[in-house]
Amino acid sequence: MKATMSSFLSLLSVVLLFVPPILTALETETSLTKDYYQKTCPDFGKIVRETVTTKQSQQPTTAAGTLRLFFHDCFLEGCDASVLIATNTFNKAERDDDLNESLPGDAFDIVTRIKTALELSCPGVVSCADILAQSTRDLVTMIGGPFYEVKLGRKDGFESKAHKVKGNIPLANHTVQDMMSIFQKNGFTLREMVALSGGHTVGFSHCKEFSSRIFGPQTDPELDAKFAGVLKNLCKDYQVNKTMAAFLDPVTPGKFDNMYFKNLRRGLGLLASDHILFKDKSTRPFVELYANNQTVFFEDFARAMEKLGTVGVKGDKDGEVRRRCDHFNKLNV
Ligand code: HEM
Ligand SMILES: *[C@@H]1O[C@H](CO)[C@@H](O)[C@H](O)[C@H]1NC(C)=O
Ligand SMILES: *[C@@H]1O[C@H](CO)[C@@H](O)[C@H](O)[C@H]1NC(C)=O
Ligand SMILES: *[C@@H]1O[C@H](CO)[C@@H](O)[C@H](O)[C@H]1NC(C)=O
Ligand SMILES: *[C@@H]1O[C@H](CO)[C@@H](O)[C@H](O)[C@H]1NC(C)=O
Repeated sequence: MKATMSSFLSLLSVVLLFVPPILTALETETSLTKDYYQKTCPDFGKIVRETVTTKQSQQPTTAAGTLRLFFHDCFLEGCDASVLIATNTFNKAERDDDLNESLPGDAFDIVTRIKTALELSCPGVVSCADILAQSTRDLVTMIGGPFYEVKLGRKDGFESKAHKVKGNIPLANHTVQDMMSIFQKNGFTLREMVALSGGHTVGFSHCKEFSSRIFGPQTDPELDAKFAGVLKNLCKDYQVNKTMAAFLDPVTPGKFDNMYFKNLRRGLGLLASDHILFKDKSTRPFVELYANNQTVFFEDFARAMEKLGTVGVKGDKDGEVRRRCDHFNKLNV
C-alpha cells in the first residue's frame, strides 16, 4: 500500500510536471511538425515539388501569384485555406470581396493541381492549407529566394466571408501606421513587415493600384520621371482594359532578390505603399539594411515566412482536410 502510494505520488508528480505544459500548448495553438505526412503521405514533398516545377516553367507568373495568395490566406482567418473557398448561393467568399484585388488564377490552379495529384496518392490526408504553404516555399526558392522550413499539420477552416477582407489586408493607399496595425494584429514587428514587403520583388500590379501616382492629375514628383513616363504609356487605357499591369520590380521582375529595396531608393517603387516604406523615418533604416545586404534580407524574409505560416492555424477541433480546396466538406452557410 505504501509502495503503491509512493509510486502513485511519483506518477502524480510526473503528471503534474509534464502534462500541464502539453495541455497548454494544445489549447493555445495547433502544433505543426516538419514530418507530419512522413507516414501518411510519404510522397507529399515530392508531389508538390514536381507539380510546382512543371507549372512554374509553363507559367512564370505562378510564383508571385501563389506567394500573394498565401499571404492573403494567412492574414484572413489564419493560414487555413479560407481564401480558396468559392462563392456559392449562400455565401460570398473572401476571394470575391470587392477588395480582392484580383487574386491570380494561376495560384488557385497550382493548389488544384497538387490536390488532384495528392488525392490519387494519399486520399483525404493533406490539407489545402498545407499545400498552399509548401508550394509557396518551393516556388519562392525556385525563383531565387531563400529556403526555409515549412512545418505541417494545418487543417482547413470552416469559414470564408467576403466582408471580413476589409481592414485585414493592407492596401496600396495605406500609411505605414495603417499597414502596421494589420501586421501587428498578426504578431509581426515593423522590421518583419518591411522584410515581408520584399515579396514585391516579384510579380505585378494592375494599373488602378498606382494610377493616382501617374494620373493624379499630377505625376508623383517622387516617382522616377522616366519610370513614370513608361507607366503612363503602359496604363493609358487602364480604365477600359482592366488587365493592364506593371511589374512591381521593374529591374529584375522574375527574380527573387533584394532589388525591390534598391529600387525604393531610386523612385522605382511602384505602389504608394512601397514608396512610403522608404519615405517614412520608421521603416527607412530597414529598407536601407536590406538594399545594402541581400543576405540579411533573405534571413529575415525566411524567418518571417516561417512565422507567417503559423498565423491562426487550425487543428482538428476547428478544421478539416477538405476533399476539394474550393468547397467545405459539408455545405456550410
Ligand atoms: C505591406 C503591405 C502590402 C500591400 C499594401 C500590398 C499590396 C499589393 C497590391 C496592391 C498588389 C497588386 C495586386 C494586383 O493589382 O493584382 C500586390 C501584389 C503582390 N503582393 Fe502585396 N502588398 C503588401 C504586402 C505583401 C506581402 C507581405 C507579400 C508576401 C510576402 C506580398 C506579395 C505580393 C506579390 C507576390 C504580389 C504580386 C502578385 C502577382 O504578380 O500576381 N505583398 N500587393
Ligand atoms: C474578384 O475575383 C473574381 C474572381 O474570383 C473576379 O471575377 C472579380 O472581378 C474580382 N473583383 C475585383 C473587384 O477585382
Ligand atoms: C484606398 O483604396 C481602396 C481600394 O483599393 C478604396 O476603396 C479606398 O477608398 C481608398 N482610400 C482612400 C483614402 O483613398
Ligand atoms: C488588354 O491588354 C492586354 C495586355 O496588354 C491585351 O493582351 C489585350 O488584348 C487587351 N484587351 C483589349 C480588349 O484591348
Ligand atoms: C551581410 O549580412 C550578413 C548576415 O547578417 C553578414 O554576415 C555580412 O557580413 C553582411 N555583409 C556586409 C557586406 O555587410
